[in-house]
Amino acid sequence: MSEADVREAFRNQAIYCERSGTPVTAAVIRGIEAALDRSTETGRRALDWAGDPRGSGDSVPLRLAGGFHALARADVDERLTALYAGQLDDADAVVRDVLQRFDAQLSPWLGSPPQTNETGRAGPIMAGVLVLAADYGLPFELIELGASAGLNQNLDRFGYRLGETTAGDPASPLQIAPAWDGVSPPAAEVRIVARRAADQAPVPVSDPAQRERLVAYCWADQAERMQRLEAALAIAAEHLPQIEKADAADFVDRVLTEPQAEGACRVVFHTIFWTYLAPDKQARIRDALVRAGERATRERPLAWLRYELNGQGGVAELRLQQWPGGSERHLATGHPHGSKVVWHG
Ligand SMILES: C[S@@+](CC[C@H](N)C(=O)[O-])C[C@H]1O[C@@H](n2cnc3c(N)ncnc32)[C@H](O)[C@@H]1O
Repeated sequence: MSEADVREAFRNQAIYCERSGTPVTAAVIRGIEAALDRSTETGRRALDWAGDPRGSGDSVPLRLAGGFHALARADVDERLTALYAGQLDDADAVVRDVLQRFDAQLSPWLGSPPQTNETGRAGPIMAGVLVLAADYGLPFELIELGASAGLNQNLDRFGYRLGETTAGDPASPLQIAPAWDGVSPPAAEVRIVARRAADQAPVPVSDPAQRERLVAYCWADQAERMQRLEAALAIAAEHLPQIEKADAADFVDRVLTEPQAEGACRVVFHTIFWTYLAPDKQARIRDALVRAGERATRERPLAWLRYELNGQGGVAELRLQQWPGGSERHLATGHPHGSKVVWHG
């Protein structure tokens, strides 16, 4: 792709941020585009990008937006801090100045893709777990694929209001209450007896630098997301998620052949991960689930619960497949961050 494509990727990302109600992130991305030239290493690397710079590809604008947010959080420059506090008047000049002075700190952000972990998605997942709890009355063995930092491994330590149904810990610092349309999911006790997760690039939140990197990719002007993330990180500091570094298809092949204890429901779940998988890996995961499903019984049930994009422009669906039987239900449709849920139950 050409320099013009790189610049267009920045402009389109800025428009998307503006439409998403995040004017600070939009101004920073627009400012970076205006400041990009070949006088900095950051500029040269971005403008000569060999891959696909767009949001649907390597997300070059969001790589650098993460770097700028990290600098703002580190309070390296008063005017940048003011920009992140909402003073947008001189945004282009501030961004240009910071890009030139902090070139060495910003350039490395181009080396890896943005990585986030959205705890709002625990809302629809918990609703699906409630359906299973009401169905079987069993405790759960949870297996999460593409878990990122694994913050949703602590999903029973968050509090929920899902329509009229409450769940989880009412005293938790992280309360999840999406806008809810339709009847409420069933009320039921959720007890988790085992949790496992994998990601090809896990974010170890016990490492302060990695934790800061995760926060930097969250858009500063999405206040609710930032608050949820800080609360989830506080919970994770006490209950550290264990994430295996593994390809999801290999991981599923391995864990689903391990014996499943009687008296527990095994749930494989994932959120906004499926579209990143090559079709052969999707097929391997599906096949492994169907094979394991053949061994499932009502005392040892298996479920596949996922909140994934449905390919219709930023809409996610909650789907649940259960064995024995293999029946599948479309439980809900919602916003990809879990902020709005329409329950079909
Ligand atoms: C958009 S993030 C979603 C993370 C998390 N599930 C959430 O909802 O916040 C997608 C995650 O899938 C992981 N991923 C992509 N392909 C994978 C694979 N083949 N095996 C394991 N993890 C993968 C990425 O590393 C990333 O952490």
